[in-house]
Amino acid sequence: MDHSGLLHQKKGIIFGALNETSIAWAIAKSAHREGAQFALSNAPVAKRLGSLESLAKQVGSPVYWADATSNDDLKVLFEDLKKEYGKIDFIVHAIGMGINVRKRRTYDQLNHQWYAKSLDISAISLHRIVQLAMESEAMNPGGSILTISYIGAQRSFSHYSEMGDAKALLESIVRTWGPHLGKVGIRINSISQSPTRTTAGQGISGFDAMFEFGEKMSPLGNADADSCGDYAVTLLSDLTRMVTMQTLYHDGGFSSMGIGDGMIEPLMEMAQQHSSDLD
Ligand SMILES: NC(=O)c1ccc[n+]([C@@H]2O[C@H](COP(=O)([O-])OP(=O)(O)OC[C@H]3O[C@@H](n4cnc5c(N)ncnc54)[C@H](O)[C@@H]3O)[C@@H](O)[C@H]2O)c1
Repeated sequence: MDHSGLLHQKKGIIFGALNETSIAWAIAKSAHREGAQFALSNAPVAKRLGSLESLAKQVGSPVYWADATSNDDLKVLFEDLKKEYGKIDFIVHAIGMGINVRKRRTYDQLNHQWYAKSLDISAISLHRIVQLAMESEAMNPGGSILTISYIGAQRSFSHYSEMGDAKALLESIVRTWGPHLGKVGIRINSISQSPTRTTAGQGISGFDAMFEFGEKMSPLGNADADSCGDYAVTLLSDLTRMVTMQTLYHDGGFSSMGIGDGMIEPLMEMAQQHSSDLD
């Protein structure tokens, strides 16, 4: 896609790019194309597990290693960021991990310490980041904060388990921060994204089935990471300056569907089979 300079002179920080499949990676590529300057951040453990340094080289970004569940790490990060850029215009939070989900503990048998950790990483980290950014007066008025959610916040998807709770909390944090941030002219939104083949996505058992279901149900098919990157750019730009506290579906139409041809046709065949078995 050609650039149109939508983020010319915008500065920011993007949390959560682990490798080329990450949604944050795609957002960074789109933001770079549109002229933004930004830092990248991830947990120290991602140094060894991912390839963030290579993205940083491609887009000319400094990297700050910080655990998003640690206020101390985030305090240092915002001080360093201020030295690098002065005040910033956007923050992207694309962080998530369901520990019970990864360890295949079902919702009726959660380990509650892991559950608390999952909520801390996947949702409360947004609260921490916003609070510490505000305390350090890191953002310019007109700034935009964005996080990435999933429709499991509103609906039950059997294997999504604790992550449904994490996303419901995440979206509530977006709404609850909104009025506080509005007083200083800053907006906050979440993109509710289709199933996407990333490290976090594929950590969910049954991910392939959820992906297939999304693909069949959505009139446009599943939205991929690159299109999410492009959508994110619009929300970081001044074009959306009056949008705040929203869950914005970026899902090929999935959230408005009841049942579509892609699902009804195999079900019709099953129903036909069932009725002929009864004959
Ligand atoms: N992949 C999907 O199907 C999908 C769909 C909707 C929403 N999302 C959400 O998108 C966001 C990005 O995930 P992704 O799918 O790109 O996967 P990903 O694995 O590429 O990204 C998740 C990131 O969270 C980071 N992280 C984990 N613990 C952290 C911590 N303590 N401190 C700082 N960073 C930490 C990881 O290092 C990783 O970079 C997540 O919130 C995820 O829930 C994903």
